Amino acid sequence: MIEIKNVVYRYESADEDQLPAINDLSLNIEKGEFLAILGHNGSGKSTLAKCLNGLLIPSEGEILIDGMSTSSEEEIWSIREKAGMVFQNPDNQIVATVVEEDVAFGAENLGVPSKELRERVDWALDVVGMTEYVKHAPHQLSGGQKQRVAIAGILAMNPDYIILDEPTAMLDPNGRKEVMETIMKLNREQNKTIILITHYMDEAVKADRVVVMEKGHPILDGAPREVFPQVDSIKKIGLDVPQVTEMAYRLKEKGIPMDTKVLNREEFVEELCRVLAFEI
Ligand SMILES: Nc1ncnc2c1ncn2[C@@H]1O[C@H](COP(=O)(O)OP(=O)(O)OP(=O)(O)O)[C@@H](O)[C@H]1O
Ligand SMILES: [Mg+2]
Repeated sequence: MIEIKNVVYRYESADEDQLPAINDLSLNIEKGEFLAILGHNGSGKSTLAKCLNGLLIPSEGEILIDGMSTSSEEEIWSIREKAGMVFQNPDNQIVATVVEEDVAFGAENLGVPSKELRERVDWALDVVGMTEYVKHAPHQLSGGQKQRVAIAGILAMNPDYIILDEPTAMLDPNGRKEVMETIMKLNREQNKTIILITHYMDEAVKADRVVVMEKGHPILDGAPREVFPQVDSIKKIGLDVPQVTEMAYRLKEKGIPMDTKVLNREEFVEELCRVLAFEI
């Protein structure tokens, strides 16, 4: 479990009058959860992500990863092993000239013995569906493939928690789909706890839980079905909701008794049919 307790984070270079990047944030994230974090630019999402695996240490408050504090110098390596990070730009995450070496890099640095390392790399490449590229040069892969290799590299370190900071932001629709399918597989089949920072609503609806950040603080927290129907609160901070949720919301405003807890086209159509049958 990840426990975030009254965390404040101020960048040293920030102006005196600037609000802290993370401002009194408390959250618990359970093992096995798939959490999506949404928020406008500058709302503190990346800062929070970096705090979760100890790249940044809170100015105030505390973060515990399975009981280990990120502020403790003795535990920081165990924490980095438990909580892996995947970043936005796949090119910046490539460290080797062959896929298998790239995937092995992190685990090798943890001191994993070579026989086990080989097994872990093969397994990780299999999970992300990149086995056939084992001998390829990473820089020749597509964006989505590079990002899956980056995920495999984290996976080979065998973390319980995987934090992904806008992993699909630089990908084309096909790459986005590949990476999202991989992320969902990690959660459902490998039982990894996923913390996915995203700007895409269609990705956030796939999570078990959505946290919406504003000015370094969570303002909404719940299942997508509970959070997204709060259309006005979400729009007020400059974010969108899934198109079908908004449509149901607008119809309801016009007096049509729609349930606004719809998250995809099928649910919308079903709800509309229910309402129409009732009206007739
Ligand atoms: N290295 C830094 N030094 C000073 N201030 C920073 C630094 N990095 C981020 N900030 C500030 O901290 C706040 C939160 O930034 P952060 O990058 O966490 O936001 P974000 O939600 O990830 O935004 P985005 O959606 O654009 O990625 C912003 O006001 C930003 O300007
Ligand atoms: Mg960011």
